[in-house]
Amino acid sequence: MAILDVVTYPDPRLTRVAEPVKLIDNKIKKLVDDMAETMYDAPGVGLAATQVSELKRIMVIDVSEEKNQLRVFINPEIIKKEGTAVNEEGCLSVPGFYDKVERAETVMVTALDRDGQRFTINASGLLAVCIQHEVDHLDGHVFVEYLSPLKANRIKNKLVKRQREIEREAEVAAPRRRVASSARA
Ligand code: NI
Repeated sequence: MAILDVVTYPDPRLTRVAEPVKLIDNKIKKLVDDMAETMYDAPGVGLAATQVSELKRIMVIDVSEEKNQLRVFINPEIIKKEGTAVNEEGCLSVPGFYDKVERAETVMVTALDRDGQRFTINASGLLAVCIQHEVDHLDGHVFVEYLSPLKANRIKNKLVKRQREIEREAEVAAPRRRVASSARA
């Protein structure tokens, strides 16, 4: 298994719409396993394939406290939504920012599991929030889009600035790494 790179907002890769999975082969199963490992490592409660630059309709979720109830959704479809609820949300692609978002209170979702078996569940609470948040990712949407333009811009600017700082630090560190590897040769 491997930890995958999570794309950070406002990277345009987060705006692309993921394609349905046609065949659940070993490559897809490996992606599912890597996504789960990446989510637990972060740590987060959910991750969509779009966030790791894979345009496939796959999402992994674990809202349990013990982190032992992994749910895999391949080609998920929300077939029913009921009520409304406001919850504070965060996102691995929007590190450090949390805000209130209104969504449906309960959802009925159908999807395939890691073995290609179809299942349908009724979800409420954090699981319902998470399912809607991850399906949004698969459709190219990030929760920031639900906030006011002022808040969204503030988050965007801060993350762009932070990303530039990370890139600058990487440039400074690169020559040092080259020296170190040649010393080992
Ligand atoms: Ni997210």
